[in-house]
Amino acid sequence: MRKQLAKRQEEVNAALEKVFAAGKNLPQQAIFEAMEYSLLAGGKRIRPVLLLEFAALGGLSAEDAMPFACALEMIHTYSLIHDDLPCMDDDDFRRGRPTSHKKFGEALALLAGDGLLTAAFEQMLSAESKAQPANRLAAAAEIASAAGCFGMIGGQVLDLADQKEKVRLEAEPYAAEKLTQINRLKTGALFRAACRGGLLLAGVREERYLSAAERFADALGISFQIQDDILDVTGNADALGKQTGNDEKQGKATYVALWGLEKAKSQVKRLTESALRELSVFDELGGAAFLSWLVSSLSERSF
Ligand code: IPE
Ligand code: IPE
Ligand code: MG
Ligand code: MG
Ligand code: MG
Repeated sequence: MRKQLAKRQEEVNAALEKVFAAGKNLPQQAIFEAMEYSLLAGGKRIRPVLLLEFAALGGLSAEDAMPFACALEMIHTYSLIHDDLPCMDDDDFRRGRPTSHKKFGEALALLAGDGLLTAAFEQMLSAESKAQPANRLAAAAEIASAAGCFGMIGGQVLDLADQKEKVRLEAEPYAAEKLTQINRLKTGALFRAACRGGLLLAGVREERYLSAAERFADALGISFQIQDDILDVTGNADALGKQTGNDEKQGKATYVALWGLEKAKSQVKRLTESALRELSVFDELGGAAFLSWLVSSLSERSF
């Protein structure tokens, strides 16, 4: 299973390396350098791998799903570049390197994010794929909605608003539901785009599969963010490729800050079990053994 993940990650990396190849000698090559600096710096590639796996459940090959997998990773990378900016989380390291704005300055970092987001839509609309046009449209609409203000951007807005208000458990009884909503949007939405988007791209339209994928992605996305919050306290900066301790410094309302490490860990466990339960319906489509393994290993990750 670990080998299957490594193979998928390599396929995604190889495809990502080709995306901006045509930009090398243009007068505006600085933007291509900045985009590739963040995009090709590593990263776990979880979202594109999920998209490829869900597309495979619907019978679509990795090759034909790849432009969408790349697009999703490009959107994710853009969200990280902007998330790290001084006006947001103000972070200096990402994927084992100085953040984009530290390396290139804020203006180019901003444009690198914009460029990746725009190029993601170009990938989905124009890259070669045997996926049917109607299925491409459905998947692109799903990804657009998840990346936007009803999804990831909406979650980032709520995250910043809570940070500004310095919400604390002592100050007001902070509802778990409020934090879950932030995590569902800022992180869960792109997981939902990966899982539902993969199915839609492969032409799957049965509600029982699409809704199971949605519940699966929701549980996985929220637990992934709580694990990220745990690692910000307990993790190793070298292994993570980013600094730790920043959530507390920034006054972020995280699951760990509000309810402590032990409760956060048990929440990851509980959500992982819910995610695993949602996979059983996919036995009808040939099974999801690799996905089960991936979900379990993500809940124990240290990077
Ligand atoms: C980091 O995502 C941001 C969160 C939503 C927690 P990842 O942990 O997937 O980051 P990379 O892609 O591996 O760098
Ligand atoms: C990131 O959440 C969510 C995004 C949409 C980018 P974090 O702010 O916790 O991610 P890291 O810890 O900087 O990777
Ligand atoms: Mg953030
Ligand atoms: Mg951050
Ligand atoms: Mg974090």
